[in-house]
Amino acid sequence: MVAADLDRCRKPLCRRHSQNTPPIISVRHAGKSVTPWPVNDTRHLVNLALIGFMGTGKSSAGRLVAEQLHFDYLDTDELIQSRTGRTITEIFDADGEAAFRKLERQLVGELAARKRTVIATGGGLPADPVNLASLKTHALVVCLWASPDKIWERVRNQTHRPLLRDPGSQSKIRELLAAREPFYRQADVLINTDLRSAREVAQQILYQFKFAQSGQ
Ligand code: S3P
Repeated sequence: MVAADLDRCRKPLCRRHSQNTPPIISVRHAGKSVTPWPVNDTRHLVNLALIGFMGTGKSSAGRLVAEQLHFDYLDTDELIQSRTGRTITEIFDADGEAAFRKLERQLVGELAARKRTVIATGGGLPADPVNLASLKTHALVVCLWASPDKIWERVRNQTHRPLLRDPGSQSKIRELLAAREPFYRQADVLINTDLRSAREVAQQILYQFKFAQSGQ
């Protein structure tokens, strides 16, 4: 996708003409149409996966969407923590980031067996192409996007993320976001969360999921 893709939006939900509102959504394979485009591959979309940088609201929106769809909700970080009995920070500190990524990859491999599940993923998970490819076999992959400033605003007072605990976190966000952007942009749907509440984001996700399913 290129920047212009962000202007492709589904009309019923589009608020990009309202004041101070950023382009809302991008749908892959949208062609020249401004109307939504069904996911027209052979995937059976039994799950919904949320990817995106730290602080983009995957967990909050994901829980709301799961509730609405009567789906299970699964958070990869939470599952890793409950399985290992350690926090993400403890895993990073004791075993290093590579060990954490290995746990993520193992978990993603198991997710294909899930049905009717909203999967909120850790921010770095889709930067492993194997993970992204795996999610795409069974889930509509929706990326929640936010600008570096907005991300900083949301995470600056939180302390549970090992990658953002140093004083240079603001520039770290820019650096990581730039490195990961090519992966995030491989999502089926990209939603700008900058000026939207979790409820509004959830509404967008639901609409996209239902539409994608209707095209199968
Ligand atoms: C990470 C994001 C975190 C968590 C870990 C690493 C990342 O998840 O997986 O701290 O690399 O972006 P959230 O995106 O849920 O904060």
